[in-house]
Amino acid sequence: MGNSVFGLIGLGVMGNSLSLNIAEKGHSLSVYNRSESGEEHVVSSFLEDNPSFNTISGYTDLSTFVQSLERPRKIMVMIKAGPAIDEVIEALLPLLSEGDIIIDGGNSHYEDTNRRCESLNQKGLHFIGCGISGGEAGARHGPSIMPGGSKDAYAMVAPVLESIAARDTQQQPCCTLIGPGGAGHFIKMVHNGIEYVEMQLLAELYAILSKQMDYEAIADIFSTWNTGGLSGYLLEITVNILGKKEGDRYVLDLILDTAGNKGTGSWSSISAFNLGYPNTMMSAAVFSRYISAFKDGRTQLSQYANKNDDNKIDLKALENAYRFARIINHQQGFALMRQASLAYHWELNLSEIARIWTNGCIIKSDLMTNLVEVFKTHEDIFDHTPTLDSLKSYEADISETLRLGLSSRISLDAFSSAYNYWVAMTTKTLPANLIQAQRDYFGAHTYQRTDAPLTQFFHTNWSET
Ligand code: 6PG
Repeated sequence: MGNSVFGLIGLGVMGNSLSLNIAEKGHSLSVYNRSESGEEHVVSSFLEDNPSFNTISGYTDLSTFVQSLERPRKIMVMIKAGPAIDEVIEALLPLLSEGDIIIDGGNSHYEDTNRRCESLNQKGLHFIGCGISGGEAGARHGPSIMPGGSKDAYAMVAPVLESIAARDTQQQPCCTLIGPGGAGHFIKMVHNGIEYVEMQLLAELYAILSKQMDYEAIADIFSTWNTGGLSGYLLEITVNILGKKEGDRYVLDLILDTAGNKGTGSWSSISAFNLGYPNTMMSAAVFSRYISAFKDGRTQLSQYANKNDDNKIDLKALENAYRFARIINHQQGFALMRQASLAYHWELNLSEIARIWTNGCIIKSDLMTNLVEVFKTHEDIFDHTPTLDSLKSYEADISETLRLGLSSRISLDAFSSAYNYWVAMTTKTLPANLIQAQRDYFGAHTYQRTDAPLTQFFHTNWSET
């Protein structure tokens, strides 16, 4: 066998599936996994389990693995994000040659990716920070791929990455060069932030509906929604989840109500804070998961919960509230990417990002497909008049849904944050004049005036009578 076109380090769930996908698309592949700490048989088992993939060669020695690759070497690292990535890079460095390319396919923080890009470029090597979405099935049969790095490096890995990616409706690969440095990982992080909100909205709908109907009835409602403009992967899997039983019990009823997270949702919120963009829904979704983790505390405090009657659910209002909140979620997510693009000079193409999210990824949906067109001619969803008209028309329905949540004692953090954001963003005069007065009162922070040019700042001596 000649040298392999592509190398992959880390045969965990994602690495395993991606390897099979790469080999299936006709690329010769070398795979490496460490053989310590209980992972002694990972490579041999992988090869034994997949005997028909005879263009894959397996290694447990890093140096032999690197030597098995054609140059410039293209090595994808599929291991846990964090210090382990730096360790692998350190181990690879003495084995690599000028122009070789390392691709980090994990959920790394974009600032780490910026740093790794810079440091490897100084050594004459390329680094691509590559977001990959779609979970195990996506990795195996076609994920959405978000690479960030230099154009030269991307051109060298594009034949492999684009061949394994999902296809959009025009049969184009759901993979495109996002921008330089950490741009790809930033975009994947925001993808996950949007994902957190989409999941939280469905959880809140489930909270409302399950108070008054059984899982089959909820699944029927969601199935109907999933045939119209609301359709999407997360709604689809929720229908399947609602129907899943173990014996005569629903699996959902056996799952503890404390949601985990691996950090990308909070990173999205932190970057929104840093960039000064009010991504209120992402924060609400992250904090809702954190609140869920306080199971013991919630159980203790539940004795103080007031009793409430169930109130009639208006299904049409609920459906429109869901439409409304999803649009706001996507507006906030894409606006965050636009802010980052301006701040970091990434020149992100929002329409292309929406396009590679139309298939293969967790947040693929009909709405995303519509956004491909919207972002061809608009920079922000709030610049698109037909969407603004829709939001305006759904406002009564979301406020009706929130009233139902309040009167039935159902926490609707994500829905209410969508509503409050919309109301504030469409309010010409906010009470922030009082905030400015308070700041000036206790800290002489100064303020701008409505009767003077905005370039001028004023201070009032508030204690003077
Ligand atoms: C994907 C997913 C995937 C995963 C994240 C978030 O696009 O395939 O976003 O990357 O879901 O790890 O997981 P947490 O919910 O654990 O933060």
